[in-house]
Amino acid sequence: MSTAQQLWDDVDAYFTTLLSPADEVLAAALRDSDAAGLPPINVAPNQGKLLQLLAQIQGARRILEIGTLGGYSTIWLGRALPADGRLITLEYSAKHAEVARHNLARAGLDRIAEVRVGPALESLPKLAEEHPDPFDLVFIDADKANNGHYVEWAVKLTRPGSLIVLDNVVRSGRITEADSDDPSLQGTRAALELIAGHPKLSGTAVQTVGTKGHDGFALARVVA
Ligand code: SAH
Ligand code: DHB
Ligand code: MG
Repeated sequence: MSTAQQLWDDVDAYFTTLLSPADEVLAAALRDSDAAGLPPINVAPNQGKLLQLLAQIQGARRILEIGTLGGYSTIWLGRALPADGRLITLEYSAKHAEVARHNLARAGLDRIAEVRVGPALESLPKLAEEHPDPFDLVFIDADKANNGHYVEWAVKLTRPGSLIVLDNVVRSGRITEADSDDPSLQGTRAALELIAGHPKLSGTAVQTVGTKGHDGFALARVVA
C-alpha cells in the first residue's frame, strides 16, 4: 500500500470513529454483503454520513438511488427520511437486491425503501410512467457507462431545488483522460458535460481521498 493510501486510511479511521461510527445494523449489512460475495464497493462510512446529511439538508421526503448493491448507502439515505418518506433504489442484480432487501428490513426501512430489480435504463422509464411525485434527491452510483443517461433521467424525475449526487467521478484521476475508450470514463465525462451545459442544472465536482482511494462526487442542483 502506498504511504499516501496509508495516510488517507488513518485519517478516515479517525473521522469515522469520531463522526460516523458503525452501528450494528450498518456493520451487519456489510458483513452479510461480504458473506454473499458482493464486491466491497459501497460508500465509506463518512461518505454515507455525508449522503445522509445532504438528504437532511434537502429536507428530503423522496429519494431515488440508482445502484443498490447490498443497500449500505441506501440505509444511510433511508435514515434521513421521515416515517412517511419514500426511497426507491434500482439494482440490476437480483442477488444484490435480495441481500439489500434483507439489510433494509433489519434496518427497519422495509416500509420506506423499495428495491426494484433490472437494468436501471429499463426501470427508469417504467418509474416515469407511474408519474411519481418528484424526487428531492437522486444518488447515482451504478454502471458508470450510463451516467449521462442517469443524469438525464434524474432531471426528468426531480423538481427545482432537488439535488443530484453522482459517485465516483475521479477514479484515481483517470477522469481527465479525454481520449480514453473506457466506457465508464466516457459515461462519467458525458454526465459532467451534461451538468456543465444543462440550463436546469448548477453543479460542481469535488475530489475525495480516503479508504476508497482517490475519487470524488459531483453535485448538481436542479435550478429550474
Ligand atoms: N450505492 C451502493 C454501491 C453501488 S455499487 C453503496 O454505496 O452501498 C453499483 C451497483 O450498481 C452494483 O450493485 C451493480 O450490480 C449495480 N448496477 C450495475 N449496472 C446496473 C444497471 N444497469 N442498472 C442498475 N444497477 C446496476
Ligand atoms: C466501483 C463502483 C463504485 O460505485 C464505487 O464506489 C467504487 C468502485 C467499481 O465498479 O469498481
Ligand atoms: Mg460508488
